[in-house]
Amino acid sequence: MLQKAAPKAKPGIIPPLPEVAVRLSQECQQETPSVDTVIRLIESDVALTTKVMEVSNSALFGYSRKINSIPRAAIVLGLRSISTIAMAAAAQPVFSGSGGACPVRKRLHKHSLACAVVSRIIAEETKTVDPNSAFLSGLLHDLGKLSFILSSDTSYANRLASADQQPSLDEEQMSFGLCHAQAGAHYIRKMNLPFDVSQGIADHHSSIHAEQPQLVQLSGVVALANHLSKIWFEGAKPNNEQLEPFLKLESFAKASFDALRCLS
Ligand SMILES: [Fe+2]
Ligand SMILES: [Fe+2]
Repeated sequence: MLQKAAPKAKPGIIPPLPEVAVRLSQECQQETPSVDTVIRLIESDVALTTKVMEVSNSALFGYSRKINSIPRAAIVLGLRSISTIAMAAAAQPVFSGSGGACPVRKRLHKHSLACAVVSRIIAEETKTVDPNSAFLSGLLHDLGKLSFILSSDTSYANRLASADQQPSLDEEQMSFGLCHAQAGAHYIRKMNLPFDVSQGIADHHSSIHAEQPQLVQLSGVVALANHLSKIWFEGAKPNNEQLEPFLKLESFAKASFDALRCLS
């Protein structure tokens, strides 16, 4: 049982997402994002520029010629990729800021990054939602957990660290007055991030029914990415009960997402 915390959680306890990440996200939601604006936003933050350059030149992208500027990175990797790299880098301090439960927070950050990448892949494969919104929603989907770690004693973090005693949504509700999905969505709304991102986060643990084509909604994409990232990157066992509803969705069945079919 979790220790009883204050009647309502205080999601405001999470450090705010840097302004540059919020503005990048808003720019990327535009039908035609401005290359100049994205470059200017990244270049306005020295640490962010350094991080984007570092990732752009990493083995991940495999370019033999050195990428030595943000405009060059935008040309070589594409606007969407550098925006994604920048948003992920900008969000990193939110997970690793001061406070206790470091290993748990590190694990949460790793899980969030994995969920972000898988959300983007699903969005691209199913062509149902904007891949950028999917990435951002995946990256921030469990931020509510971070607020509970920071706002309570160690009992919540201890439960998260355990292999088989993960706190349930009901327990969160009882201890904090809302579950981590709702707490995360509250944070996103406060950050003025797009509404679909907060909605995607609010519903990422809602049940999926074949007759409700939720996969076209961001929450379905994030929910599926959440399951898959645990299977692919955290050694979780595939659970047909969790995956089955997604496979039945028409929008998903049409996509050539063979990797998931192999798991079922
Ligand atoms: Fe979650
Ligand atoms: Fe998660």
